[in-house]
Amino acid sequence: MIDQQNIVNEVRSKVDIVDIISERIPLIQKGKNFFGVCPFHDDTNPSMCVSREKQIFTCFSCHATGNVYRFIMDYEHINFREALQLLALKAGISVANIKTQTKPNRYDKYYDIYKLALKYYQNNLNTNYGKKARDYLVNRQLDNKVIKEFEIGLSLTNKQDLTKLLIKKGYDYQTLNQIGLSNNDNDIYIDRIIFPLYDINGRVVGFSGRIYDDSHLNKYLNTKETPIFKKGLTLYHYHVAKEEARIKKSVIVTEGFMDVIRLSTIGIRNTVALMGTALTNEQANLLKRLSPNIILCLDGDGPGKKATLAIGQHLLQLGIEPKVIALDGDYDPDTYILTFGKERFESLIEKAMHFRDYKMKTLKEKVNLSSDEEKTAYIHQALEEISQINDEIHREMMLKNLAKEFNIGYNTLEKHLKDLLSKQPSNNNTLIPSKRNIPKYSKYQKAMFAIIYYMLVDNDVIRQFEKEKLYLPDETCRFLASEISYYYKKYGTIVLADFYTYIEDKKELLSLLNQIVAISFVEKVPMSVILDYFAVIKDYNKKLEVKRLQSMIEKETDPLQQAKIAERIRKLRVGS
Ligand code: CTP
Ligand code: MN
Repeated sequence: MIDQQNIVNEVRSKVDIVDIISERIPLIQKGKNFFGVCPFHDDTNPSMCVSREKQIFTCFSCHATGNVYRFIMDYEHINFREALQLLALKAGISVANIKTQTKPNRYDKYYDIYKLALKYYQNNLNTNYGKKARDYLVNRQLDNKVIKEFEIGLSLTNKQDLTKLLIKKGYDYQTLNQIGLSNNDNDIYIDRIIFPLYDINGRVVGFSGRIYDDSHLNKYLNTKETPIFKKGLTLYHYHVAKEEARIKKSVIVTEGFMDVIRLSTIGIRNTVALMGTALTNEQANLLKRLSPNIILCLDGDGPGKKATLAIGQHLLQLGIEPKVIALDGDYDPDTYILTFGKERFESLIEKAMHFRDYKMKTLKEKVNLSSDEEKTAYIHQALEEISQINDEIHREMMLKNLAKEFNIGYNTLEKHLKDLLSKQPSNNNTLIPSKRNIPKYSKYQKAMFAIIYYMLVDNDVIRQFEKEKLYLPDETCRFLASEISYYYKKYGTIVLADFYTYIEDKKELLSLLNQIVAISFVEKVPMSVILDYFAVIKDYNKKLEVKRLQSMIEKETDPLQQAKIAERIRKLRVGS
C-alpha cells in the first residue's frame, strides 16, 4: 500500500486545489485565501474558503472540509478511485497500474439486475415483436442512432418474461419486487417502450415505460422509489450534462426526457429533464453544480409557465438568476424542434431572457392597462423586483424600459428605487463570513487541538510530542495524534492535505480533524508557544490525577495507605 499512498500524494501535490475548485465554482481571492459559494449546502454567501498554502477547503457554514480528493468526490459524486484518475490525468501522471481497493457496494446486485433488464429490453426492440414499436419510433423521428444513445428498449406483452429470466439468473422474487421490476411474480412493464432512467453517475436505476398505441393507460409508467432510485434526487441525463455543461458553459432544463432526447438529435446535450414540473432542493443544488448559467425551457402550456415561475424563484433564492426560453402555447422543446427546426431553436437559446424580465412580463400580462390603479400596483411590483437585482447596469436598463413603457419620468422611478434599495440590508459584508460560529473550547481542549494542528504543519512538534510522551486526556485526540506520529514515522514527513486522505475511512478522526482545522490557528508559531501548550496539558493531567487520588483517600480506611496517597498528592503538587 506504500506505493499507492505515494502516488496519491504525488498526484495531489501536482495539482492545485485552487485551480481544480475554480474550474467548477467561481472563487475570489481575499488575502492569502480564496472564497466561493459552498456547493455542499444551500447557500448564497461565499462561505467556502480554499487555502492554496494548505491545499484544503473549509466551509465555515456547513463545515465541509478536506483536500482536493474530498472536494472532487463530493462535487462530482464519484468514488476515490475515480477522483484519483481524474486528478492524475490533470497532473499528467499515469495511474493505470495502481490497484486501489474498490469497496463492494451493498446495492451492486441491484445495479447488476438493472443492467441485465436493460439488455433484455434493448434486444426485444429488434425482434419481430418489436415491429410496431419500431414504427412508432420512426414516426416520432427517432432513428437508430438516438435509440442507441438513449438505450431505448421494449417490454413485451407476456406478463412474466423479465421476471422469469431474472429468476433463472439466480435472483429472487423479493429482490425483484423491492427494486420495482416485478409485482409478485409478474413483470411491471408490459408492452411499453422502455426508456432507462439514470442516476447522476449514469448508472441505470429505473425505467420509464411509454405506451405506443391508443390505449388509455397512463402515458408513462415509472419505476417506484427504491434504495437506488429517488425521483427527487434525480435529474435525467445529468451524467452527460456534467461534461457538456462545462464545455457549453450553460445547462438547459426541460420537463420531459423526450425533450432531452430530441435536443440531442440536433447536437445539444447540455440538458437535463425534471421528469415533471417540480424541482426539489436537492435537484436545485445539483443544477447549481452543473453551471451558474441555467436556462429553463419548460413546456409552453399553463403548467409549464407556472413551473417556470416557481423554479425560477427557487433558483433566485439560491443566488442564481436563470434564463428562460418561453415557448408558445402548446409546444414543448420536442415538438418545437420538430416543427421549426434546429436553427430556430438555437436562436431561442441566444435570445433567452433573464428570469426577472420573464417574471415582469408575466405580471404585466395580467394587468388591465386601462385601470390606473392596476398599472400603479404593477409598477410598484416591478420596482420591487428591480431592487432585488445586484447588477447595477441590468437595474438601470430595466428601469429605463419601465419608464418608457408607462411614460413615467425616469427620475421618479429612480427615486423610488433608491428608497427601496436603502431599506435593504447591505450586501457588502458578505464576502467574508462574519459569524463563524466557532464553538468555545476550554483552555485544555484548545491546547490539545493546537498541539495536534501544529504536529500536522511542523515535524519538530511531532518529535517533541514523541520525546515527551505527552498524554492527551481525550481518547479521540490521542488516536489522532498517534496516527500522525505513525504516518510521520512511516513516510518521513507529513503534509496536512495528504493526511486527510490517509484517515479518510476513520470517520471519527476525520470529524475531529475538521473541527481542529476550522479553528484557523496562526500559521506558524515558535516552539516556546508549543511548549506552553504542552504545559497546559501536563497541568490538566496533574489536576486529574490529584482528583483521582483524593477520591482514593476518601475510600481508603487504612491510615497508613491514606498517608502514602497524601504524600503522592503532595509530590504531584510541588511538581516532582
Ligand atoms: N410524466 C410521467 N407520467 C405521466 C406524464 C408525464 O411520469 N403520465 C413525466 C415523464 O417523465 C415525462 C415528463 O413528466 O418525461 C413530462 O411530461 P410530458 O410533457 O407529458 O411528456 P413529453 O415529454 O411531452 O412526452 P411525449 O412527448 O412522449 O408525450
Ligand atoms: Mn412531448
